[in-house]
Amino acid sequence: MSEKIYIFDTTLRDGEQSAGVSFTPQEKLEIAKQLERLGVDIIEAGFPCASPGDLKAVQTIAAEVKDSTVCGLARAVKADIDAAWEGIRHAADPRIHVFINTSNVQIEHQLRKTPEQVLEQAEAMVRYAAQFTSNVEFSPMDATRTEYDFLYRIIERCIEAGATTINVPDSVGYGIPEEIGAFFRGISKNVSNIDRCCLSFHAHNDLGLCTANTITAIQNGVRQVEVTVNGVGERAGNTSLEEVVMALKTRKDILDFHTDINTREIYRTSKLIEAFSGMQVQWNKAIVGKNSFRHGSGIHQDGILKRRETWEIMDPEEIGIPQGTQLVMGKLSGRHAFRAKVDELGYTLSEIEINRAFDAFKELGDKKAVIDDRDLEAIISEQLGDVENPAWRLDHVQVSSGNRATATATLRLYDPEGNILEDAATGTGPVDAMYKAMRRITNIEPKLTEFRIKAITEGIDAQGVVTIRIEQHGRTYVGRASDTDILVASARAYTNALNRMIDCKKWNQQARANGGSA
Ligand code: KIV
Ligand code: ZN
Repeated sequence: MSEKIYIFDTTLRDGEQSAGVSFTPQEKLEIAKQLERLGVDIIEAGFPCASPGDLKAVQTIAAEVKDSTVCGLARAVKADIDAAWEGIRHAADPRIHVFINTSNVQIEHQLRKTPEQVLEQAEAMVRYAAQFTSNVEFSPMDATRTEYDFLYRIIERCIEAGATTINVPDSVGYGIPEEIGAFFRGISKNVSNIDRCCLSFHAHNDLGLCTANTITAIQNGVRQVEVTVNGVGERAGNTSLEEVVMALKTRKDILDFHTDINTREIYRTSKLIEAFSGMQVQWNKAIVGKNSFRHGSGIHQDGILKRRETWEIMDPEEIGIPQGTQLVMGKLSGRHAFRAKVDELGYTLSEIEINRAFDAFKELGDKKAVIDDRDLEAIISEQLGDVENPAWRLDHVQVSSGNRATATATLRLYDPEGNILEDAATGTGPVDAMYKAMRRITNIEPKLTEFRIKAITEGIDAQGVVTIRIEQHGRTYVGRASDTDILVASARAYTNALNRMIDCKKWNQQARANGGSA
């Protein structure tokens, strides 16, 4: 039977201590309710002595939350403990969390006390807190840089004084996994009454090791972990809730532990914290980052299409990610992913159309990092709208224009026999110059009746779709093309309309020759 790991969330306390983060009372309540829905065991709702506003927010959370323990933080001084109790006393299950600095550097230079004074103060204040509730947590701050014998003594004395949870923080993110394992084995071995409390670990991410350290702590006797959503927290942040929870869930084969977290609420919670904290989750953040389940390389996309597990160790649905696994179309995507995407968009293309569309897609991939569905639709519909054997094909276009210059266009086209023809023209603007040069080269002079241009995606690298109508002998022909360069799109839209016109005429002639009607 796997053992339960208690999840203590300190997003509202240590998370709010991040420079630049401050939640409104309404946001705090909403976060607390979401943490309750997520299945967090203990919510550290705030630091009630910090301000009357903090006290009020903790009181509101304590009154509303029913399924999680609500905890208030206090320094090891009476006024703080009184405020903490004032904040949480009406909670369904209140906890007071008392802390004091224990490393020599902090005792000497920050508290300006002796270790003996710290020991006595901690013991007395834990005893004081235990008068209010039997649910008292004690943290020897900067524990990983504290002298071990002193650490063992202070923990032992605080358990004796009534602490039921001993939280051992790596307050400055100094620990290395192997060392953290030995550290907790040392505590379990040298603190005689350690079996009377729940052992907890609270880590910071200064060396980017806090998730690894937390997992190692669990493997060495820790049963409560202190975490924050998205890893928000002081400096480089705290251990991230989603990473620990999903590591335990995903590696059940070697980690015989479980949590009561409803993992399907993780993504929603992450988004809420992202919005309220104003701290954007980095794209490559484990579990909740935008790219966590997006695949860009052709080899990976091919594997995913054959079986998701080839490149994913977790199911995004389990994390509540609504968009699920995503294949991001770009220059590295292969034919397999491209074809699957065309099917997904609901198009049926012939082999020739698929090949041409794939070439156009690769060409666009060199200009645009991410090709979205709208880009693909433009490429595909251009192929659908193209004739099977185009008579005229664009080889090269060069345009110069400006407010004090005459617009000039130079064009090179392949004619129906495959010869290259080149000419240039000037015009009232670049499109006019281009279309005049087209007429000179092709010797076909249809009337341009409509020219429309539309951006199909956002941003500077957006594709423009050009739609034109040309008229000849009372009939209208439409041409369409898309490109990140609108002048190239304009030139290709023209050849597209011309080819449709020629194709149509050919078809009519054949129909007449066969005795049918057009
Ligand atoms: O990092 C730390 O040591 C803390 C304590 C208050 C637990 O946040
Ligand atoms: Zn902390």
